[in-house]
Amino acid sequence: MEDKRKCIDWNMWCESLNVAENYERVVGTDVSEAQLKLAMPHPRIRYFHTPLSITDGELVDLIGGENSVDLVTVATAVHWFELPKFYSLVTRLLRKPGGVIAVWGYYEIAASPIFYPIMKRFHVSTLPYWNPKIQYIFDA
Ligand SMILES: C[S@@+](CC[C@H](N)C(=O)[O-])C[C@H]1O[C@@H](n2cnc3c(N)ncnc32)[C@H](O)[C@@H]1O
Repeated sequence: MEDKRKCIDWNMWCESLNVAENYERVVGTDVSEAQLKLAMPHPRIRYFHTPLSITDGELVDLIGGENSVDLVTVATAVHWFELPKFYSLVTRLLRKPGGVIAVWGYYEIAASPIFYPIMKRFHVSTLPYWNPKIQYIFDA
């Protein structure tokens, strides 16, 4: 069956490309214009710069309107968001019923026995200086 679904990737990078394999339309957004300039082009992905100054109404219109999105993804960025505002926007955008939000983060990457202890030491020694909201990522 052909998949006509639409996904918004709230902080595009590599995950936009992954979801484009399964979704007909993908919208990748980021507050950073510099990050968007590095985004990989794909025929099914449209990238939008969404600065913090954009209003909720403008953002909903830009993405395609209320109840227009089947999947919202956020990878390792939710700690930057103003969560009540973000969840309110997601509620407006997701199709009802059936819309899905997927939020994840990475933590303690065990890529190799050499890399892991270095990352662990870096993490433990710098953690006191991180924004406390980083805990959302560790718990994701
Ligand atoms: C740690 S990077 C993660 C990038 C990518 N998702 C990944 O997993 O590699 C966090 C990204 O979130 C973006 N960001 C921060 N606040 C944002 C917001 N309110 N809306 C959209 N993107 C935001 C940043 O510009 C940055 O590109």
